[in-house]
Amino acid sequence: MGYTACIVAAGRGERAGGDTPKQFRMLAGRPMLSWSIERFACDPACGQIIIAHAPGQAEQVRACLSGARADLVEGGETRTASVRNALSLARSDTVLIHDAARPMLSQTIIAGLLDALKSHDGAAPALPVSDALVRDADEGVTAVNRENLYRLQTPQAFHTDRLREAFSAAQSDYPDEVSLARSQGLTIDLTQGEEANFKVTYPQDFERAEQLLNRSAVQTPVPVTITGLGYDVHRMASGDGVHLCGVFIECPYRLIGHSDADAGLHAITDALLGAAGLGDIGDHFPPSDNQWKGADSAMFLEHVVKIAAEAGVRPVHVDVTLICERPKIGPHKSAMKHRVAQIMGLDTRRVNIKATTTEQLGFTGRGEGLAAEAIVTGLAS
Ligand code: CTP
Ligand code: MG
Repeated sequence: MGYTACIVAAGRGERAGGDTPKQFRMLAGRPMLSWSIERFACDPACGQIIIAHAPGQAEQVRACLSGARADLVEGGETRTASVRNALSLARSDTVLIHDAARPMLSQTIIAGLLDALKSHDGAAPALPVSDALVRDADEGVTAVNRENLYRLQTPQAFHTDRLREAFSAAQSDYPDEVSLARSQGLTIDLTQGEEANFKVTYPQDFERAEQLLNRSAVQTPVPVTITGLGYDVHRMASGDGVHLCGVFIECPYRLIGHSDADAGLHAITDALLGAAGLGDIGDHFPPSDNQWKGADSAMFLEHVVKIAAEAGVRPVHVDVTLICERPKIGPHKSAMKHRVAQIMGLDTRRVNIKATTTEQLGFTGRGEGLAAEAIVTGLAS
């Protein structure tokens, strides 16, 4: 399903000053938080966004979503507490924890982290310290050797189960997830950080971030919009109900097919395969293969969402038309919309179910069969 992005946005932004917490302050025309949300929402490899916010700030977070789907959770008093709450909602095997206060996250950083996770429990972008370092104490200033010293950034990426184990075992709060993970012995790889990915912390940082965002807007890679079309027909006979778009409708008919004959889900599956350039449903689930006998078609669609994500494609919208005289689809549209959204990991507003008859003409009109059409729109990296 792609990775889970947890954006922590529950801090008070005290060092930044001002009346509004820094994550909601305007930056290059939009609230700071919305920049990070957009980076993840446009990444086809991202399957879930979780945002930790302070109590009473859910509405402010929703105003930053501009159509992106995200799970909201209340954060805690410390960053560790906020991440802990966010982590409890993570559904994917891989999790990226990101500061809302770093609006300039790049695709290169994300790619580097996902690559590093192939050989480590966790990874974080890092930059070497270039200035000379000293420690100022009562006895005076002492030089600190900067060799092998790095500044860590976010996102900090982990295998979800390893990070969860570390959080269960950790006794105290930590400044970031790498220090918490190291305290529990997880292995961490350092990837290439970027100066532009700095954390907006002090009042003067806003101007620098604004300049960088204005300049980079042109260079941000825009994902390609792709479309796929699906069509499916199943024969109809008398029976005790039909499966359509993941919902069972009790009626005196049934649809004949090798699987549960859900023409709606089959059309969507084919449309997504089309968008991802991955062939058709028969290529992946041959009807000759006995393991698909009576199968729940939701499984087909879930699998295709997964392989599409691996191919760099994320569905963002689906429109379905069911063509039949009976059963009546209207009363079930809402349930279908919710089920399809759930299977595909979409917001229900991005799923549309329509139905039509063919005025008693043709095979659908005579009730010999039912047809379904679907169009899936997706984003490709
Ligand atoms: N954060 C959080 N929950 C907390 C504290 C911090 O979710 N209890 C988040 C912040 O919203 C921010 C990120 O962690 O996106 C990095 O923290 P920091 O830059 O320190 O932000 P603040 O804590 O908000 O700022 P300050 O320390 O200046 O008050
Ligand atoms: Mg803080």
